[in-house]
Amino acid sequence: MRVLVTGGAGYIGSHTCVELMESGHDVVVIDNLCNSNPRSLERVEALTGRKVSFYEGDVRDEALLRRIFAEQAIDSVIHFAGLKAVGESVAQPWRYYDNNLNSTLVLTKVMADVGVKRIIFSSSATVYSGDNEMPLRETSRTGSCTNPYGWTKYMTEQILSGIAHADPEWSVVLLRYFNPIGAHESGMIGEDPRGIPNNLMPYITQVAIGRREKLSIFGNDYDTPDGTGVRDYIHVVDLAKGHVAAVTFATENTGCEVFNLGTGTGYSVLDMVKAFEEANGVRIPYRIAGRRPGDLPVCYADPAKSAEMLGWKAEKNLRDMCRDSWNWQSRNPMGYGE
Ligand code: NAD
Ligand code: UD1
Repeated sequence: MRVLVTGGAGYIGSHTCVELMESGHDVVVIDNLCNSNPRSLERVEALTGRKVSFYEGDVRDEALLRRIFAEQAIDSVIHFAGLKAVGESVAQPWRYYDNNLNSTLVLTKVMADVGVKRIIFSSSATVYSGDNEMPLRETSRTGSCTNPYGWTKYMTEQILSGIAHADPEWSVVLLRYFNPIGAHESGMIGEDPRGIPNNLMPYITQVAIGRREKLSIFGNDYDTPDGTGVRDYIHVVDLAKGHVAAVTFATENTGCEVFNLGTGTGYSVLDMVKAFEEANGVRIPYRIAGRRPGDLPVCYADPAKSAEMLGWKAEKNLRDMCRDSWNWQSRNPMGYGE
């Protein structure tokens, strides 16, 4: 199978390229490098011993997409390309709606024209409404997003399910990720955020390496066992394997299906600090700060549907996630930047 991976130079995309190639698929990547470094793909090639066909460019560039589909016999598409910083999306809504929605519209238009009708999309647990019972099932309520980033995920799900509904030849798989962390166990590829990290694990690893002084824990007065926020952290390699399963599923089925990719277990911020310290023998100084606006107290998945229909289950534990995050950061203190 030849898979077009949009955003394949990014954090989840690069790990997915490795798992696809190790499962025997050929990989073609389009990425405009707006939030990534081409070294990630060089390292994917070094890890797998195989070549990635890389097109540097924007998914909204229709002429480029037509050229890619003409030059490569693509069977399926995994659509990672998108902007993902929640705070930035509040400050720059037009940019987020333009990038995240127009990329999907141009991509699916070209796909329909050339008759490639299988797409796997990177959605997020952020599409679930804040008033659901835990664990979140695929049937839990969605909408009431609190920021433009979340709305782009919600709207893209609507666009893609509408396309599948209108033309029964399409196969659409919507994957709702919980909190991806960790890195490939080689330490050669990993998460390399620009500027101050928004997310917990990259912040912890940057404190551990000495790039930040201490972690701020956003609230310790939630209704959770230790008062800090609880999330479903999932190893990025497990997540990547979920995409390989989704490619097979999309080949064997038509219509639109949505799947949670999470472990089903929630850990608090303090659990994460402790697990990181224990796994790696490093201290993480922290202070308690105020709650971050928009944060939920608790969020974790029911992954039963993915186990049943995709035959996929997360296999790595919290210690693996902490060890591999630190292995990547300590081998690459400045990410891909040096
Ligand atoms: P990332 O920023 O590392 O990867 C996204 C890639 O897409 C980058 O390489 C970027 O350069 C590229 N890109 C962005 N817009 C593009 C465009 N118009 N044309 C071509 N390339 C473009 O992010 P990631 O963490 O790997 O996330 C991948 C996808 O998964 C995103 O859609 C993100 O919203 C979604 N997601 C991520 C998380 C998470 O916690 N990382 C959680 C839920 C969903
Ligand atoms: C955030 C986004 C969400 C996005 C997800 C993955 C917000 C409000 N939500 O989710 O839309 O899909 O990232 O990219 O931004 N924490 C700290 N200190 C920190 C960082 C985080 O205490 O410096 C806490 C948070 O309050 C939370 C937990 O750690 O309880 C995880 O935070 P984070 O990694 O940002 O993920 P989410 O909040 O789940």
